[in-house]
Amino acid sequence: MGISEAFHNKIIKKRRIIEDFGEHKYYKQVVLMGLFFPEEWVEEVRASNDIVDVISDYVQLKRSGRGFFGLCPFHNEKTASFHVNPESQLYHCFGCGVGGNVFNFIMAIERLDFYEAVKLMAERAGIPLPNTMDVDKFTRSKKIRDQMYELHKEAARFYFEILMSKEGRKALEYLQSRGLDKSTIKAFGLGYAPDGWETIKTFLKQKNYPEELLIESGIVVKNSNNRVYDRFRNRIMFPIIHPRGMVIGFGGRVLDDSLPKYLNSSDSLIFNKSSTLYGLNLVRKQLPIENLIIVEGYMDVISLHQFGFKNAVASLGTSLTREQAKMLRRYAGEVYIAYDGDTAGQKATLRGLDILQEAGCKVKVMQFPKGQDPDEVLRKYGPEYFKKLMNNALSLVDYKLEQLKNEYDLNSQEGRTGFASAAARILVKLPNLLERDVHIQRLEALTGFKSRIIYQEIERLERNDASKGVKEKRIGNNRLDTAKGSLRILIPSNIKAERDLIALMALSEENAKKILKKLDVQDFEDPIHREIVSIIKKLIESDKEVNPAQILNYVGDQDKIKKMVEIFTLQIEYDNTEKYMDDCINEVLLSGLEKRRQELLKQITELEQSEKVDPVKYRSLIQELGEVNRKLKTNR
Ligand code: GTP
Ligand code: MN
Repeated sequence: MGISEAFHNKIIKKRRIIEDFGEHKYYKQVVLMGLFFPEEWVEEVRASNDIVDVISDYVQLKRSGRGFFGLCPFHNEKTASFHVNPESQLYHCFGCGVGGNVFNFIMAIERLDFYEAVKLMAERAGIPLPNTMDVDKFTRSKKIRDQMYELHKEAARFYFEILMSKEGRKALEYLQSRGLDKSTIKAFGLGYAPDGWETIKTFLKQKNYPEELLIESGIVVKNSNNRVYDRFRNRIMFPIIHPRGMVIGFGGRVLDDSLPKYLNSSDSLIFNKSSTLYGLNLVRKQLPIENLIIVEGYMDVISLHQFGFKNAVASLGTSLTREQAKMLRRYAGEVYIAYDGDTAGQKATLRGLDILQEAGCKVKVMQFPKGQDPDEVLRKYGPEYFKKLMNNALSLVDYKLEQLKNEYDLNSQEGRTGFASAAARILVKLPNLLERDVHIQRLEALTGFKSRIIYQEIERLERNDASKGVKEKRIGNNRLDTAKGSLRILIPSNIKAERDLIALMALSEENAKKILKKLDVQDFEDPIHREIVSIIKKLIESDKEVNPAQILNYVGDQDKIKKMVEIFTLQIEYDNTEKYMDDCINEVLLSGLEKRRQELLKQITELEQSEKVDPVKYRSLIQELGEVNRKLKTNR
């Protein structure tokens, strides 16, 4: 690894200059990042490296509840107390107390400094380095991407407005005829691209987007005669939205039976079909969720959401990729496959299901009436029936065995033998012996082979596989109880309130803004709390996203990071968060007032006991005491 020597020397030199500033490490790091890595770039690198993915390369993680557990790589342990949280993008060990964001992890495990860690993560995500030579280049490519996001957003708004206008009446009627209501159309930002060759092209060019950029983003097409025209004409538009909220592409559907039924944006600097899932942006708002529903089509996702199944996503007309599977696992440990009645059995689909399982998802396969997709089933039979289909969903093994059964004629000896040995191949992969046993019993009933024989066949296959070096990852069912056993330390109620407020702030910008309206940095008593609040305040003031992992970018001191991670990984769960937040704010305010009251009383007593009482000072203290008392009374 290592960075070039010249670059390294430059860092050392710059670092010396900054050390002369004195101050604490926090300041040093931000200044340094300003000199080498633009803050936004560092944050982009961080956001592009999912902490679960990165840590999975070093630690075997198992999903548990809303997070992942594994054996801590930083101390010796037999029970898993190392926790990775996909929501906050932080890790934390309940055993030895280490923790931080993805950079802190890489620094610790690879023994790198901050710059090297950032650089490594940039390489991993394929993000070009803005080293001193090509800061300009980075700024340019970032600018292009930002412009692309912007133009997609404007295009989506434009298409939506047309849908709602007279010009879009036909399209709106079509959507309504398919049962979509206005709020659903709005939630998905659906739109209509009118039937002209240069509608969006003219609109975006008027907004000063260069033609090259329009072509590169795929919203217009340049043909071999160099003619440039709209990709989407006379189509219902489905904006494809990145989980972080940016419109990155479109799907477009015809209003009748003409072909092709759907058209998608081509891949671009900001859009990559194989790592995108339709609907994930809305699912993200529902977190934490227990399970996801994977469907095939745009319309299925939309229908499911309208019927209250807000955990549905679709791949974009392709079979599932490893990347998508990894993303899905971050959101939920269990996925329901809700494919059309006739596609679920296809070979390509089965591969997709295996990919999901390999990514660590528990896969359940729903079975639909032949030729019907989730959208149709919902409209025809209603959500209750859909729920029933979910409850009856088959495990992946059951489903595969079911499929297999259809391939053989169980009325012939030959068919039964073929089925039994093919089934054995599936059962070898099942790590849980008890589960295996259930299937073997069933096989005995179906094929007439004694279970002893089926066992032997499975064992033979296992030995074969082992000698071929096929390693099956066995997912045991280790209980992960360590978290529950962690120490509870008594802390003063106002400090606890401060701490919980900070956890809430880091969790949502909305919370942060609300809290900062009522409390300021100095209202917080604990110095760590104060530091976090001031970082959050700065992020908000400079219009940057507030999230725990981003906050840590601004902290250099390992001990502080550790303490902050402990706060960020608190699970604040209350039925009424608003109310709890208000209570905490009140607690902090009251405790501040109470402190001030004590302070005033002390000063007043001192003054009263002194030889010469300064009457002006005395009066002002008494007056303030009165005010504090009144405030305390009204707020209690
Ligand atoms: P409706 O027919 O309107 O209910 O849409 P659907 O989403 O149910 O479509 P369907 O089941 O036919 O196809 C599933 C998904 O495959 C679609 O949502 C598209 O992503 C994709 N798809 C279908 N037809 C085409 C096509 O002609 N071209 C491309 N590129 N993708 C398609
Ligand atoms: Mn459909």
